Amino acid sequence: MITTERVVIVGAGLGALYASLVLAPRPVLMISPDPLGQGASSAWAQGGVAAAMDPPDSAALHAADTVRAGAGTVDPAVAGMVTAEARAHILSLTSLGAPFDRDAAGGYVLSREAAHSLPRVVRVKGDQAGAEIMRALVLAVRATPSVQVLEGWCATGLMTRNGHVTGVALARAAGSAPVALRAPAVLIAGGGSGGLYAVTTNPPRIRGEAIGMAARAGAVIADAEFVQFHPTAIASGEDPAPLATEALRGEGAHLVNAAGVRFMAALHPDAELAPRDIVARGVYAESRAGRAPALDCRAALGARILTGFPAVAAACARAGIDPVRQPIPVAAAAHYHMGGIATDPDGRSSLPGLWACGEAASTGLHGANRLASNGLLEALVFARRAALSIGCSGAPTPEVVLPEPAPAPLPEPALVARLRAAMTAGAGVLRDEQGLNAALRMIAQIEDAQPDSPQLLNMTATATLVCAAALLRRESRGAHCRTDFPGTLPQGQRSRMTLAQALTLRPAPEPEPL
Ligand code: SIN
Repeated sequence: MITTERVVIVGAGLGALYASLVLAPRPVLMISPDPLGQGASSAWAQGGVAAAMDPPDSAALHAADTVRAGAGTVDPAVAGMVTAEARAHILSLTSLGAPFDRDAAGGYVLSREAAHSLPRVVRVKGDQAGAEIMRALVLAVRATPSVQVLEGWCATGLMTRNGHVTGVALARAAGSAPVALRAPAVLIAGGGSGGLYAVTTNPPRIRGEAIGMAARAGAVIADAEFVQFHPTAIASGEDPAPLATEALRGEGAHLVNAAGVRFMAALHPDAELAPRDIVARGVYAESRAGRAPALDCRAALGARILTGFPAVAAACARAGIDPVRQPIPVAAAAHYHMGGIATDPDGRSSLPGLWACGEAASTGLHGANRLASNGLLEALVFARRAALSIGCSGAPTPEVVLPEPAPAPLPEPALVARLRAAMTAGAGVLRDEQGLNAALRMIAQIEDAQPDSPQLLNMTATATLVCAAALLRRESRGAHCRTDFPGTLPQGQRSRMTLAQALTLRPAPEPEPL
């Protein structure tokens, strides 16, 4: 068994990088499956960071919008705390080199996104916020001697002793047997679970594994049923599906169907800028009816889309779509998991020794429907709070050197594809009891097909929790839409569940036909 005095950070996205900088000079080992800065959801974030920067906006207004969007399950104390800290994090990112868009007077340029009562999203070159913030933080981390980055490795499990997390199991990202590493503290910042679905905007590695490994170690998982679908993933057949940022709708782009009808106008007074769950269901309904929903940017942006939104323009170019002359075909896609490892306001999980931040965590900020661009903000706030809670002092310690493990297979691609199809069919935009039970049965079969793959078991653990929590929530709320329970109960409550509890909801296998 190898032992280190370094704090282990699982993941290498925004929360991981930011926490490692706050922890300095305490030595850190960051586990990055890809070269640092690549493969994390944060780098793909287009919108930006929501923050009340100046009057007439205020943290109180931002908190009120967050609570309203969350459909009765946001923790108001968490919303108040996060929105109050937001401005300071924008200033801190600016001093770390994030090149936020500024106006002639030096003020931050603010975008409008759905369900925000004011323009409030601090952005970089239209849709480049995630990429540029990550670029600045990667440079800062590379220049911080206390951070050791282990590239090409991933965590596959947590080690526990008497309910305490004592370390991690690490494997080569390309597939290997695990190596056990004992460590004084583990911070999971490894992203959400979009890749559990067949259509997602998340990078390929983001498949619920970070949440699943905590669940398998016994951590409480909160709000697992709340999966946010983004209404405007570009329907070009690419996997993952490229995003057409909500900021385009903030600039006046309209959703239309094949008949040219602006269908959102009939569904909500705010039309395209209605809360994300409502727009996602609107787009999903058009797709299901074969009416080919599309985002029409022609009048609102024209040729400006090419320079103002380079990531969207590049995705269109790859698909042979000319967004200056044609509407962009779109589909609803799994985008953000509001649920995750339940944490307290300092990022502590239910297991001593384990902290979580970013999309892997469920802090109470997002409720049943995350407000746009609150995701990066939450990662920043909780990365800092978790780092301070872990403790930032520590003597220099040697770098970790792992032995070369024996090769071992990755999850079988066909099983992963079956899992993604099962989640899309049973626990997608619309859910009902029959579909959720069918998904739970399929997940059990998939697990049985490769029971020695910890990565697959991490995925199926999260998938099981999503379906079990969705089954127990016999109402529709925010992103969780039950066609068999369309009403919303008067009292909104967050869900909390362990994997052991979720497994009791797995239905028995269907009897074999005689
Ligand atoms: C977007 O740019 O549309 C996504 C922003 C977010 O998910 O917060």
